[in-house]
Amino acid sequence: MKFFVDTANLEQIKEAKDLGILDGVTTNPSLMAKEGIKGKDAQWSHYKAICDIVEGDVSAEVISTDVEGMIKEGEALSEIAPNIVVKVPMIKDGVKAISYFTSKGIRTNCTLVFSAGQAILAAKAGATYVSPFIGRVDDISWDGMQLIGEIAEIYAMQGFETEILAASIRNAKHIVDAARAGTDVVTCPLSSMLGLLKHPLTDIGLAKFLADHNKVNG
Ligand code: G3P
Repeated sequence: MKFFVDTANLEQIKEAKDLGILDGVTTNPSLMAKEGIKGKDAQWSHYKAICDIVEGDVSAEVISTDVEGMIKEGEALSEIAPNIVVKVPMIKDGVKAISYFTSKGIRTNCTLVFSAGQAILAAKAGATYVSPFIGRVDDISWDGMQLIGEIAEIYAMQGFETEILAASIRNAKHIVDAARAGTDVVTCPLSSMLGLLKHPLTDIGLAKFLADHNKVNG
């Protein structure tokens, strides 16, 4: 399973990279806005800065909602760096744009996916990644993990090569559950990634080891 960090914050990306387990980064317009990055030039140089930090895939989202606009934007985004993946929303024109990008060898991440049917369309269009939003599904009392399992089952049965990228992860348990449900990638905030580290018995055990060591060694 690959680990992506879901942020546009350069410090957090560096911290995640320093763990030695980071495979990529996902961003979206909300995450870019959170960093206060305004205007196309600033946004694109920010994508370049992220690509300079990580070798793995970096998702950069198109803002257009018509196929012509998405193609123009996506082609330009893909020129920023070889590890850019063009993020495209799951709408009708988005499916057309993904099909176009697939035919041109431009890698894509189909975002805002909330159903298995949408995931089938993304795979048929040749998306590199499909992003089901687990947390937002749970927010409306549906089951995000069940969705991951359903997509994983369909993709395996049908031989689709699109990778499942579990998104809208809110905590460490989401990561573990998505792994169990068969996701290929999780993208999560740094805090959820660090949450995986935590166990009281690890802290208690380490304190005892050090105390015993110090008893003998002073
Ligand atoms: O990867 C998608 C993610 O950024 C959305 O997360 O917490 O806004 O649902 P959230």
